Amino acid sequence: MSENTITFEIDGVEVQGTAGQTIMQAADAAGIYIPRLCAFDGLLPYGSCRVCTVKVNGRFQSACTQPIAADIIVENDTEELLEFRRNLVDMLFVEGNHFCMFCEKSGNCELQALAYRLGITAPKYPYMFPADRNVDASHPAVFIDHNRCILCARCVRASRDLDGKNVFQFVGRGHEKRIAFNSRARLVDTDLDASDKAIDVCPVGAILRKHEGYATPVGKRQYDHAPIGADIEANKH
Ligand code: SF4
Ligand code: FES
Repeated sequence: MSENTITFEIDGVEVQGTAGQTIMQAADAAGIYIPRLCAFDGLLPYGSCRVCTVKVNGRFQSACTQPIAADIIVENDTEELLEFRRNLVDMLFVEGNHFCMFCEKSGNCELQALAYRLGITAPKYPYMFPADRNVDASHPAVFIDHNRCILCARCVRASRDLDGKNVFQFVGRGHEKRIAFNSRARLVDTDLDASDKAIDVCPVGAILRKHEGYATPVGKRQYDHAPIGADIEANKH
């Protein structure tokens, strides 16, 4: 054990991590899944969706931003936290216009997969049916459907930090907040390229490549085979 090794506990299980890791990173390495939507490997933590909320020594913290510390007691898979996460996911569904049965992302969508994992089969809040969410299909290779955006900022961070472009930013506040482009106009007027990593990190069907929506048929997609988080739990030791 190196002097940088930090030992702590998640749901009664002893976990070892390295100084500087977040709770989520150490949990992932130990094969313990903490649900998430805005966090993504290779992107800076953003801490906006709060789906990764855990309790650290009895206090709510986001696991994707909170660093590990010696002897902390982390609660993750408790009914209280699962219900908290269900409420967040429920609100994301009714805030936008998410019609999974007609969405090309169905079966590969992290929001849909998380709802299934959390046992959500029907919304408990009234739908808001926002009418001002447009679809921009102006780009020859990519489209964005604002109806499905959950404002996770993955595309913002990936375009800025991985593609070096800043194609995506947020505009507006509160329920008027939405993704906008660096040209302030159509997607086709930006320097977005079909090979940009920003396209691949969207957890939902908001940013998608054209011409390949059903290349893998529904029923044979990632979360049709195993629940979200199963890949992390396969590393449990
Ligand atoms: S377009 Fe996709 S990646 Fe970008 S903020 Fe919306 S949901 Fe997140
Ligand atoms: S995954 Fe941690 S706040 Fe979104």
